Amino acid sequence: MAKKCSMPLLLVSIFIHSLLVKGQSPLPPALYVFGDSLSDSGNNNFLQTEAKVNYTPYGIDFPSGATGRFTNGKTIVDFLAESLGLPFVPAYLSLSSTQKNNITTGVNYASGAAGILPETGTAMGMILSLDKQIDYFKDTIAKYLPRIYTTPVERSKYLSKSIFFISIGSNDYINNYLKPENYGSSKGYTPQQFANLLRDRLENHLKKLYYLGARKFVVFNIGRLGCIPAIVSAAKPKPNTPCDEKVNSLVVLYNAKFPNMIRKLERSLSGSTFVRGDTYNMAKNSYEAGILTEQTSCCEVNGLGHCRQDSTPCKNRKEMIFWDAYHPTEMVNHAVAYDCFNGSFLCTPMNIHQLARKPYASKMCLPLAK
Ligand SMILES: *[C@@H]1O[C@H](CO)[C@@H](O)[C@H](O)[C@H]1NC(C)=O
Ligand SMILES: *[C@@H]1O[C@H](CO)[C@@H](O)[C@H](O)[C@H]1NC(C)=O
Repeated sequence: MAKKCSMPLLLVSIFIHSLLVKGQSPLPPALYVFGDSLSDSGNNNFLQTEAKVNYTPYGIDFPSGATGRFTNGKTIVDFLAESLGLPFVPAYLSLSSTQKNNITTGVNYASGAAGILPETGTAMGMILSLDKQIDYFKDTIAKYLPRIYTTPVERSKYLSKSIFFISIGSNDYINNYLKPENYGSSKGYTPQQFANLLRDRLENHLKKLYYLGARKFVVFNIGRLGCIPAIVSAAKPKPNTPCDEKVNSLVVLYNAKFPNMIRKLERSLSGSTFVRGDTYNMAKNSYEAGILTEQTSCCEVNGLGHCRQDSTPCKNRKEMIFWDAYHPTEMVNHAVAYDCFNGSFLCTPMNIHQLARKPYASKMCLPLAK
């Protein structure tokens, strides 16, 4: 597909000139977040679901305590927001309409137990599926943003500069494919077919975000689900390796398709930039080094794998990988955010700092209608 940019030369030179004058392009005005419990900042507090953690000891290391975040402290998104000079990204469902009308720094639509597929996680109750999350984002653009960015040009400029963080897919395994008692997917699809289905659906969702105005994307693959304490302890027979490699091998099928899907999107969606986050291979080194040979949770967990309400968690939270039976500690979130923002290992082909500074794609570079 031909990429044509009709930006006149004069504008280009003015643009380059303004870059030289300012020294660098400004940091993004907003961070928009789509995903699951790794990113949820309180949406599930407002839903009827078992996937809800707005009680202590969750948030024990977070400035405002238990907020519905599925960890002891900050999430990856919280660390990224801080580094981008933005406030913590508020949960969409926590906002009043007055607040929705007045927010320009981004919104968090992520929902614990949600997946790429709409039925994922529903055995636990209500969720915001990725479809629903994008519907709410549509509302944000259609109903709320126009009060601040009054013209379409202003709005598309603002969205082009904003960062779109998407981290989803774990629950399509944990709360769907690996739960044959609740879902038919493992009977209906081979592991490879299911991985392809997830990839295709995610690809469509990313396209939707692009056509709504998103240009700068950060999209994560799926981590080593086979190493999660809840998965290891549920494995039958008990694996004689630290992780359940059968489960990891399902994720590998999905992750193998992931880079090509992203590259293809970037090529076909003119003016888009994609940063690919890889947490699967992050863990690899740690497991091989034998650091994580024992997957234990920092807190005492209940039947759902969540911390028991008001239980006293471990003290060495900065040395633990897992907070509860599913979710990483703040320490791990920080390590991921740090490298993805400042480093060069987890996020490619550039880190989020570089993504943020990349000159945004002008409206004039939209794909030409065929
Ligand atoms: C709108 O947001 C600004 C900046 O965050 C804040 O100072 C102001 O009080 C808000 N106004 C209303 C009506 O909420
Ligand atoms: C990136 O590096 C800066 C400067 O050292 C630091 O202040 C910031 O916290 C880092 N970002 C993350 C997400 O850790």
